[in-house]
Amino acid sequence: MGRYSFSYSLVFTTIFSTFPLFITTIFLCGSTLQTKVESLPLSTNGRWIVNEDGKRVKLACVNWVSHSETLLAQGLNKRPLNDISKSIKDMGFNCVRLTWPILLATNDSLASITIRDHFSSLGLVQTIIDIQKNNPSIVDLSLIKAFQEVVKSLGEKEVMVILDNHVSQPLWCCANNDGNGFFGDKYFDPDLWIKGLSKMADMFKGVSNVVGMSLRNELRGPRQNVPDWFRYMPKGAEAVHAANPNVLVILSGLSFDNDLAFIHSHPVTLSFKGKLVFELHWYSFSDGNIWTSMNPNQACGQITRNVMRKAGFLLDQGWPLFVSEFGIDLRGSSVGEHRYFNCFMALASGLDFDWTLWTLVGSYYLREGVVEMNEYYGILDTDWSHIRNQDFLQKISAIQLPFQGLNSPEAKHDKVIFHPLTGLCVLRKSHFGLLSLGPCPNSEGWEYTPQNTLSIKGTRFCLRAHKEGNLAKLHKKCTNFNSKWELISDSKLQLSSKIRYNSSVCLDIDSNNIIVTNACKCISIDNTCDPASQWFKLIDRTKS
Ligand SMILES: *[C@@H]1O[C@H](CO)[C@@H](O)[C@H](O)[C@H]1NC(C)=O
Ligand SMILES: *[C@@H]1O[C@H](CO)[C@@H](O)[C@H](O)[C@H]1NC(C)=O
Repeated sequence: MGRYSFSYSLVFTTIFSTFPLFITTIFLCGSTLQTKVESLPLSTNGRWIVNEDGKRVKLACVNWVSHSETLLAQGLNKRPLNDISKSIKDMGFNCVRLTWPILLATNDSLASITIRDHFSSLGLVQTIIDIQKNNPSIVDLSLIKAFQEVVKSLGEKEVMVILDNHVSQPLWCCANNDGNGFFGDKYFDPDLWIKGLSKMADMFKGVSNVVGMSLRNELRGPRQNVPDWFRYMPKGAEAVHAANPNVLVILSGLSFDNDLAFIHSHPVTLSFKGKLVFELHWYSFSDGNIWTSMNPNQACGQITRNVMRKAGFLLDQGWPLFVSEFGIDLRGSSVGEHRYFNCFMALASGLDFDWTLWTLVGSYYLREGVVEMNEYYGILDTDWSHIRNQDFLQKISAIQLPFQGLNSPEAKHDKVIFHPLTGLCVLRKSHFGLLSLGPCPNSEGWEYTPQNTLSIKGTRFCLRAHKEGNLAKLHKKCTNFNSKWELISDSKLQLSSKIRYNSSVCLDIDSNNIIVTNACKCISIDNTCDPASQWFKLIDRTKS
């Protein structure tokens, strides 16, 4: 988490109503592509991450902060560790990106301090009482033993772990001038970094749910440069692999992990194969104020092209891309973040990349001097047992499951029509050709033909516009201009058809999520409008 300065106050209530965890279970459908912990370790096959059986495993992770000055995974003052691990699984995440500082691995006198003594030295007296109450078996463990217990608890719930070296020193991350940003910075000694990576990799050798290590979070600052990146990152990767050949090695780019463009014409060469993954961070604030200052279609178009140029090209080159941080303030009141997130969902579903949400954390023990700081980006609320924003979790549940797998000879290919705003897909609702939004796994396969018709595969039915403000329905007559659909606007997310030879409409939803056509909204110029109800993404799907 970087570059953004939060002005959080001590607020323990949220304006969103919260729901108990069990409500989420209705969104969790089993998938044949999901993995069990026993088919680990993971490796790569082209742009996909795969398990031992060669089946695709989509990493749908959540960040769990354990790198800051308290050095303990957050939330253990609020709930028992095993309950938090279970909630992660119940919310549909299959892995955790667990953050740690180098000193935890390299400074034995620090690592061996007990939680009780460490929190006591930080003056967190009440926090100790609360950890004692919720996690009595942890409070007197050493910091390193507690870290291992967190990994173990996740493993027992079949949650995979990516160990993310976030910083050198235990502190909140990330600023340009915090001395932890780039090789050679005050607190970023490359040799100590390699030693710490090796020790951590070795410590978790044989712990099967530890499937990857991300080598360093958000490289940044005045010292950052490409030659040093190529000098040190492959060394770190080799050190990790030598200590623990099972784990994926995950490399971050420059500029707060917003930029991997320098790899485009200069591939990374390592002595081993099948373990290399790249990571990208993408927040609304990664792009200044573009989301509010520009027309949303144009902003989404421009930023999508940027993301492709800076990192998305790696997928085409045959490397997995892991978007290891994204997220929004879950109070949901920011117009810019709303636009960013819908655009994110369109790209995330279309590319079907692996990802980690920022963040699990409902509140911090201590952050930037504030005790019990609320985390508005946290999927859990400050009590760590309620979901902060159920709507948001429902939306991302659509991208927790993979759309695509590996292209085996038996695989069948079709498309779904995804609606980023709701996280739902266009489904046939009745015999009368009525269409509505529903869960993507329930979607029949669509086909987008060279004649620009959108038809349900294996049937004669195609999508047809009627009139502005009317239903768009399935029909068997598919040759007229009102059954031809083009992807328009700079975002290429609006599906438009002509209803007369000179008049167009766009696919849209009504207030009951029924598919209709309306006048095309917000095509350009205006930066106050919101086209999101009209954004649809045609997604390739593979069925094994
Ligand atoms: C190691 O940790 C101890 C205990 O926190 C601290 O006093 C010491 O300064 C640390 N050493 C280094 C090199 O950071
Ligand atoms: C579009 O067609 C309608 C009737 O077919 C006509 O009245 C109108 O002037 C046309 N508009 C344009 C911009 O050509």
